[in-house]
Amino acid sequence: MKPGDTLMKHYLQFKDLRAQEYAYLFERTREIKQRFKNYEKYQPLVDRTLAMIFEKASTRTRVSFEAGMYQMGGSVVNLTTGDSQLGRAEPIEDSARVISRMVDIVMIRTFEQTKIERFAAHSRVPVINGLTNEFHPCQILADLFTFIEHRGAIAGRTVAWVGDGNNMANTWLQAADILGFTLHVSTPSGYELDFDVAGVKNRACVKLFDNPLDACRGADLVTTDVWTSMGYEAENERRLVDFEKWCVDAEMMAVARSDALFMHCLPAHRGEEVAAEVIDGPQSVVWDEAENRMHVQKALMEYLLLGRIG
Ligand code: CP
Ligand code: NVA
Repeated sequence: MKPGDTLMKHYLQFKDLRAQEYAYLFERTREIKQRFKNYEKYQPLVDRTLAMIFEKASTRTRVSFEAGMYQMGGSVVNLTTGDSQLGRAEPIEDSARVISRMVDIVMIRTFEQTKIERFAAHSRVPVINGLTNEFHPCQILADLFTFIEHRGAIAGRTVAWVGDGNNMANTWLQAADILGFTLHVSTPSGYELDFDVAGVKNRACVKLFDNPLDACRGADLVTTDVWTSMGYEAENERRLVDFEKWCVDAEMMAVARSDALFMHCLPAHRGEEVAAEVIDGPQSVVWDEAENRMHVQKALMEYLLLGRIG
């Protein structure tokens, strides 16, 4: 593939794929996961290499992409800012030109979305967003698949977002717009969703609430995230005060639907954004959610490299 190749797709934001493509990916994920559970070898990516670039810490993203790529027969190169020339000011455009001549697909976790966009613009191969300050599309892909596995179709449902208007919230907003569910959002003042960042004009898919309890009322899924995302550590003390009421607790789960699920992308801080009794309780599906990162990303890499199967 060459830069500008119209057949090449990147996955930089959730809105880079359409609803029909998501339906396909969820079905492929189900099949790929089933094969994994049956110990059935499935190696469509033999001789393909994934480069992973981490400018921020990771446990799940690193393990899920690396294990997933090896399971599909490929191999992985792992780069961090500290151990590559990225940390010594080599332009991102030059890094993209070089890395994409040697590997078949790239996953990047970095700070500004513009950085991954600049990389993609100079890459010969598909680029996947493994988290930026603005978006975390692979996580929402896993969250949606997890919901569908447990409860069926997401269209027409209600998802409650409690907490920071961050990369996860922006991505949920794009997903609600594309997949036809309602997003209830409650953030502290000063941490609101930015519709311009998400690029979502459709306000009908979102309802905003001052009180997090009201956001959870009638929800099919309640979800939250850390109060302080990576890159915002200098604001931690202030955020501990500002987010105090945005802790998902048993009272919030009690006003959601009786069969509501709880999700958290992890890592979690029990006693801050979520009470231990919720994340460790019967409605929580956080471990399935974490595992599903690997299955959805296998389907995503297969799709970006091979197109539709069958
Ligand atoms: N949820 C998530 O992306 O986890 P990591 O930061 O551990 O990759
Ligand atoms: N919003 C969090 C997600 C971590 C997976 C962060 O960006 O740090």
